Amino acid sequence: MDKNKLSDIAKQMVAPKKGILAADESLKTMTKRLASIGVESTLENRSMWRQIMIESKGFENYISGIILFDETLRNPLPNGKMIAEVLKEKGVLPGIKTDEGTYKFNNGEETFTLGLDKLQKRYEEYSQMGAVFAKWRAVYKVGNDVPSKAALVANAIGLAQYALMTQRAGLVPIVEPEVLVLEGDHDIDRSAEVTTKVLEVVFKWLDRFGVELTGMLLKPNMVLAGKDAKTQPTSKEVAQKTVEVLKKTVPEEVPGIVFLSGGLTPDQSTDYLKAMNTEYKDLPWQLSYSFGRALQQEGLKAWSGKTENIGAAQMEFLTRAKKVSEARE
Ligand code: 13P
Repeated sequence: MDKNKLSDIAKQMVAPKKGILAADESLKTMTKRLASIGVESTLENRSMWRQIMIESKGFENYISGIILFDETLRNPLPNGKMIAEVLKEKGVLPGIKTDEGTYKFNNGEETFTLGLDKLQKRYEEYSQMGAVFAKWRAVYKVGNDVPSKAALVANAIGLAQYALMTQRAGLVPIVEPEVLVLEGDHDIDRSAEVTTKVLEVVFKWLDRFGVELTGMLLKPNMVLAGKDAKTQPTSKEVAQKTVEVLKKTVPEEVPGIVFLSGGLTPDQSTDYLKAMNTEYKDLPWQLSYSFGRALQQEGLKAWSGKTENIGAAQMEFLTRAKKVSEARE
């Protein structure tokens, strides 16, 4: 494992004003996104939306890397080009989603993540196809009795094994333990408690498996109240609680924290990121983004599958990317 190379890539991913675009929706998720704008889920349409985003002029000023789904990295775009080649020309790093979804246990209340067994082999291919970083997502619910100890440990070990294998294959792992903090009626303090526990256990196992902290990024949720909670926090409170949790749990060696948007609106995601970067200046890590929905939602809606809307869709996408980028300053 070349520690310096991994650390250079990780730093490049969270360079000033830049963050990650998560465009790695699985077949099922992308089908849902396209259905929401009345578009059929064909390979052509799924790839067309990704092509529209990467043909937006100047997006590379805001996006350092894109997480891709296997299908998008593997097949030519509708314009006949390979996406990794196009990104390389623009100085944008291609990444790959490596997890293969989740497996339910505890009466369907909890999950652990699938996809480790063929990972080593898959990395040989992904590297050849141009990927330089990867992502693996573990999911946790907030409830009275969950996450259980089994979910905390199983998912942390999965993330640690993935991160180690990713670094050995020469790619930078994005470690994504996502607490579904918006689901439910709990207050922000309960989210803080669960997120703290999750991150503590994750970093314990990253350490035990010998994962190089300077050569990875953390992709956590922001700390929020459930969407059915009686009171909703202000941006300042979200920033304060989130940074408090991160300070308690994330080692200083980690170069960057790239948040997921997790069902927040594009404006909320942008505001919360901005509040964190405005209020807290001397943190050891870069605070950046790896948004999926928050970066894509407005552009996707503007496109609605119509060729004549592509220009407008690119404008929406770029406008949001610029706002999110400015939220880092
Ligand atoms: P959202 O920003 O839409 O939550 O997506 C990020 C992601 O990659 C989830 O795995």
